[in-house]
Amino acid sequence: MPVILAIESSCDETSAAVCVDGHILSNEIANQTVHEKYGGVVPELASRAHLQNIVPVVNVALDTAGSTLKEIDAIAFTQAPGLIGSLLVGGQFAKSLSLALGKPLIAVHHMQAHVLANLIENPKPSFPFLCLTVSGGHTQIVVCESPTRMKIIGETIDDAAGEAFDKTAKLLGLPYPGGPLVDQYAKSGNPDRYQFPEPKIDGYNFSFSGLKTSILYFLQNAGHSLVYKENFKATDEEKKIFIENNLPDICASVQNRIITILLHKLEKAATDTGINNICLAGGVSANSGLRQAFTELGRRKNWHTFIPPFQYCTDNAGMIAITGYYKFLEGQFADLSIRSSARAEW
Ligand code: KG4
Ligand code: ZN
Repeated sequence: MPVILAIESSCDETSAAVCVDGHILSNEIANQTVHEKYGGVVPELASRAHLQNIVPVVNVALDTAGSTLKEIDAIAFTQAPGLIGSLLVGGQFAKSLSLALGKPLIAVHHMQAHVLANLIENPKPSFPFLCLTVSGGHTQIVVCESPTRMKIIGETIDDAAGEAFDKTAKLLGLPYPGGPLVDQYAKSGNPDRYQFPEPKIDGYNFSFSGLKTSILYFLQNAGHSLVYKENFKATDEEKKIFIENNLPDICASVQNRIITILLHKLEKAATDTGINNICLAGGVSANSGLRQAFTELGRRKNWHTFIPPFQYCTDNAGMIAITGYYKFLEGQFADLSIRSSARAEW
């Protein structure tokens, strides 16, 4: 019955979780609100907030789980990828605890943990499964052969899906992070009103930068055209009025295009690999339109589909804990000399 304490601090969420024998007993998340007024995460402020939050968050996670530090068998932490200052806070905390308690350390890759969030609750996918992982920094299609054997078969060549949502929101004058707001407005909009372009990219790779550019021109033209017009640019006032009058339809149309870009590639990967256990993961899998379209596609294709509960979609230590649990079972421990890394190979 291994007891794993897990720490996640890769970006702007400070989180701690306790996992007992593969069951998550607590998953505490402190959101950092300090970034809101800057329209994005400020790395220096994120590191400072992690320093303030980490001890209380770990204490609450232990209390909620009814555990004490003495009962912990191993400490798992997010080693990569992410903001280096943020990763260092969680990493140094985990190392210090490992040294003080004399318990092993488990280094976890944040993107692998997003995939394994699908193994937290029942029903769980059987192996092999395909996972579409969509977050603020990554968009990947992964073949998962076992909890510790995964291969990326497709990824974005420029922006991530979450960035496409957040940048759209910014162009529309919505606050950061805009993904959840675009989701909200899209609920009452017409997804077929504006036809944004779908890029032609080889294989299972994605691209979102063209979509971003067409939204920019579309708004500059106050909805008259999706392409750059040499002799026409709406005034700021015209642009503002156009957005105010059409916000739900714009959000629904952009969201619809992001979803079709994602699901066309996922469908191709599923057909080519013949795998029919298909999962979603990452912050963007909290998007209600994507969840619905993914489930409908799965029904049409006779897939077994899986989506983590909301609290395990966006960044959280529960997913680090479940990954740590499987690494514990395989004896995959890290040395104290392991370094946090902003970028990392699998
Ligand atoms: O996985 P995550 O929490 O952090 C990273 O590892 O990047 O993903 C954060 C991303 C942000 O871009 C955020 O806008 C997006 O997930 N997101 C959403 C929704 N909830 C979070 N995007 C669209 N609709 C949502 N409901
Ligand atoms: Zn993440």
